[in-house]
Amino acid sequence: MRATGSLHLTWALIVCYIMTGHCVASQKKTSCHVHNGRADCSHLSLSGVPPDLPRNITSLDISHNRLAGIPPASLKPYPDLIWLDVSFNSISGVDAGLCKTLPLLQMLNMAHNELHLLKKEDLNQCSNLIQLNMASNRLKLQGEPFSELQNLKYLDVSSNKLLSAKLGSQLQLPNLVNLSLAFNDFTTLKKDDFFFLNHSSFLQVLVLSSVSLKTLEPGCFKPISGLRSLIVDGSNMGTLVISKLCSELSATSIEYLSLRKMKLVTLTNTTFTGLQKTSLTFLDLSHNGLGKIEEGSFQWLSRLQTLVLADNNIKHLTNVTFQGLRSLKKLQLTRALVKSHTSATPIIDDFSFQPLGALESLILQNTAVRDITEHTFTGLTSLSELDMSWSSYISLKNITDKTFASLAGSPLTKLNLAGTAILQINPGSFSVLRNLTKLLLDNNYIKQTLTGKEFEGLSQVQEIHMANNHQTVNLSTTSFDYVPNLRVLTLGKSLRATALNLDPSPFRSLSQLTVLDLSNNNIANIRENILEGLVNLKVLKLEHNNLARLWKSANLGGPVLFLKEARNLMNLHLDSNGFDEIPVEALRGLSNLTELSLSENLLNSLKPSVFNDLKSLQILRLEKNLITTVRPEVFKTPLSNLSLLVMDKNPFDCTCESILWFVTWLNNTNMTSVPDVRDHYRCNTPLTYFNRSIVDFDPLSCKDMTPFQALYILSSTAVLMLLVTALLVRFHGWRIQFYWTILINRTLGFSDASVEEGRQFNYDAYVIHAEEDTSWVERRLLPLENDKCKFCLQDRDSVPGTMKLESIVDNMRNSRKILFVITERLLKDSWCRRFKAHHALHQVIEASRDSVVLVFLQDVHDYKLSHSLFLRRGMLRPCCILDWPVHRERVPAFHQKLLIALGMTNRLQD
Ligand SMILES: *[C@@H]1O[C@H](CO)[C@@H](O)[C@H](O)[C@H]1NC(C)=O
Ligand SMILES: *[C@@H]1O[C@H](CO)[C@@H](O)[C@H](O)[C@H]1NC(C)=O
Ligand SMILES: *[C@@H]1O[C@H](CO)[C@@H](O)[C@H](O)[C@H]1NC(C)=O
Ligand SMILES: *[C@@H]1O[C@H](CO)[C@@H](O)[C@H](O)[C@H]1NC(C)=O
Ligand SMILES: *[C@@H]1O[C@H](CO)[C@@H](O)[C@H](O)[C@H]1NC(C)=O
Ligand SMILES: *[C@@H]1O[C@H](CO)[C@@H](O)[C@H](O)[C@H]1NC(C)=O
Ligand SMILES: *[C@@H]1O[C@H](CO)[C@@H](O)[C@H](O)[C@H]1NC(C)=O
Ligand SMILES: *[C@@H]1O[C@H](CO)[C@@H](O)[C@H](O)[C@H]1NC(C)=O
Repeated sequence: MRATGSLHLTWALIVCYIMTGHCVASQKKTSCHVHNGRADCSHLSLSGVPPDLPRNITSLDISHNRLAGIPPASLKPYPDLIWLDVSFNSISGVDAGLCKTLPLLQMLNMAHNELHLLKKEDLNQCSNLIQLNMASNRLKLQGEPFSELQNLKYLDVSSNKLLSAKLGSQLQLPNLVNLSLAFNDFTTLKKDDFFFLNHSSFLQVLVLSSVSLKTLEPGCFKPISGLRSLIVDGSNMGTLVISKLCSELSATSIEYLSLRKMKLVTLTNTTFTGLQKTSLTFLDLSHNGLGKIEEGSFQWLSRLQTLVLADNNIKHLTNVTFQGLRSLKKLQLTRALVKSHTSATPIIDDFSFQPLGALESLILQNTAVRDITEHTFTGLTSLSELDMSWSSYISLKNITDKTFASLAGSPLTKLNLAGTAILQINPGSFSVLRNLTKLLLDNNYIKQTLTGKEFEGLSQVQEIHMANNHQTVNLSTTSFDYVPNLRVLTLGKSLRATALNLDPSPFRSLSQLTVLDLSNNNIANIRENILEGLVNLKVLKLEHNNLARLWKSANLGGPVLFLKEARNLMNLHLDSNGFDEIPVEALRGLSNLTELSLSENLLNSLKPSVFNDLKSLQILRLEKNLITTVRPEVFKTPLSNLSLLVMDKNPFDCTCESILWFVTWLNNTNMTSVPDVRDHYRCNTPLTYFNRSIVDFDPLSCKDMTPFQALYILSSTAVLMLLVTALLVRFHGWRIQFYWTILINRTLGFSDASVEEGRQFNYDAYVIHAEEDTSWVERRLLPLENDKCKFCLQDRDSVPGTMKLESIVDNMRNSRKILFVITERLLKDSWCRRFKAHHALHQVIEASRDSVVLVFLQDVHDYKLSHSLFLRRGMLRPCCILDWPVHRERVPAFHQKLLIALGMTNRLQD
């Protein structure tokens, strides 16, 4: 979070800087910054030294302001100053008291001011000064202004339009090491110009850049004979003056001479004569437009170790060009031989480098030469590095065993042939390079099948770089059989898409290999054993291929677990392969893996424990996939030691289930850096969070989930129960009501069956029947009467004189059971329906359900029965329901059943 904050600030500053141009000075900083005893007051439009800085500051930068002077009084509060920068102001003079006020001052920068007259008194007290910069003023020296600077080591008076190099007449500046007189107007170095430095045995560096010297008086460098480095870049002197300069330098200890950008078009065999006796080791002649080097030009430079001829226009190197450079170790010829449309292709003759027996490094970058031959490099017996990259040589198009034959005598270890338009490498091409350890062949047009013979003889080679060969290289199973010591092999954007569909693997003999780059090849097919034998492989780059099919569970023959042999992998790059699934076993055993990159695939839901073996993981990249959920089952292990996680631009699902764990992890991690977490980790779903940052996800919304869940379960149960009840009531309400009434009756004790039992009955059954069924009753029922069984028939047994209702009630009460003879006619009989049935029901409830017996003469629907008589079959015991048989022979059985029904105890047998 803090990192994002500072990022915002930086952006604000950049935007603001673009808009105003100056605001870093005027808006970012409105006062001095003080840190560690250093005060930065630059760019504040100040016209004086701020008086309110900490007293003990040792360094004060007050450059780029509007100071017109530095009165000592204004610096009095800061006596500890060691370092004072007042450059880029409008100061016109040095106040005599300055160094007195600042006795500890060692560095004074007054460049880019308007200093003019400089007198001895001005710097009188500055004996502790070590560094004084007065560049870009308009100095006019009066007397001996520098004479008291006993300890000064660096003095810069460049760009002052000085008309002489003579800064004094007396001996002074005994400790001066570095003097810059560049960009001044003098054209002559007089014999006694440097006399004031006669005792300065320490002077080592003299800068005379862009000083147009015309005359050098003999002995002009004599007073500074300890000189080691001379820089005269950009001086417009001409060959003669240069050669004069060299002769004057012969009296010095010169080691380093820089003659860049001097329009030195021709070197003659006398230019450097004067340097013969010196111990010059470094000579820079770059950017001179040098076209012609005369035979023997360098013959004087037998001690030279480094020669820089870069960026010139040399036409021809011959077997005598470098004659005499016996000690040369490094020859830099980058863009030294070039072809332009006005000139012919430069030529390197056979044996041109033969004089360079000590040469170790030859840089021929960006050169265009007619060709190299079997003898071009002959004689380079110490050469260990040859860089011919980005050059064009005809014979490199088709490299054969002749091409580098001239290097047979060289202990070459590094050969750079990148960007040299190679088309083909023939067998044995490098066989003479027995010491080679590094071969660079990137950015060519190699188009062939590597049989292995191309690398014959390269038994010491450790690195072969062959990237970017336009996917035209094919491999065979023997491609690398001659290079068993290979550590690094890069074949990115070089291989044909089918090149790796080989068995056995072309890499199987490379047991030392640690880095293998197969990226950008559009490879779709590799075998499971591709990495077999690569026991030391640490880095595997497979990004930008087409390997998705290999890991699909639907793949014919199952997923191809091509990583299973590479147990020591530390870096694995699998970006942009179209992967949409990772088999659980794919990354098994990679316990040393520290970096895993799977960006820009189509990964959505990852299987639990797929990353569980990645216990050393420090960097994980999964950006631009289709990941919606980040759950602990998948990510707990890989995220546990991580220092960098890049997972932005995924369509996160911001629900408690999918993201809560991740958001909490992000909030609590203080080891892992997650760049852009606020801006580039956005929710895709649900709609309420769409396009909002995942860090805005509210974890509290998940905390309340448990009560909500309970409430949900509760309410849904209630609704369900209500539904069931409603249905039950609708279809079985009568049953419930019936049993309920019985229950109430029983518990409240209105009628107890046992009480009922003991009652005296006059009749065994009260018979209810329709008027029309009287004949059936008389014919079928009454014959059953005997002294044990007595029926009550309303018409026959009612006591005359009593009310009809009353007698019905009495008779029913005096009967043990009530017997209904049920026919359609009974249901229509209003008396039966209204009163008798009602009362019978009452009896049933009162005396429990066994007191009613139904005899059906006809089949009557239960619905009609309940509708008319308020009785249902289901209310009674099955044995109390009898059907009048149609067949005559079953009548005795009916009688038997009826008697059982009537003779049963009224008690409920529960
Ligand atoms: C300068 O003095 C301040 C207190 O005035 C002190 O905190 C600081 O450490 C001192 N700095 C140095 C470089 O001595
Ligand atoms: C320089 O070259 C000239 C011919 O161009 C030759 O006469 C002279 O002897 C050479 N000098 C040296 C020192 O090689
Ligand atoms: C340089 O080559 C020429 C022929 O081109 C030959 O005559 C001469 O001897 C060679 N010089 C040296 C020093 O090899
Ligand atoms: C390269 O040279 C070999 C013979 O040396 C030849 O067979 C081959 O065709 C050449 N290849 C190209 C691309 O010119
Ligand atoms: C080059 O290899 C040879 C053996 O092939 C060995 O004797 C020699 O020391 C090696 N040179 C260097 C510089 O490694
Ligand atoms: C992992 O690295 C350690 C040491 O860094 C090494 O001992 C071990 O063999 C490596 N490989 C595996 C699979 O752990
Ligand atoms: C992150 O932590 C802060 C306090 O440490 C807390 O207020 C905030 O709710 C947390 N956010 C998440 C997403 O856990
Ligand atoms: C986070 O930092 C605290 C101290 O600042 C430390 O005690 C704690 O172990 C750290 N947590 C992790 C996961 O490193």
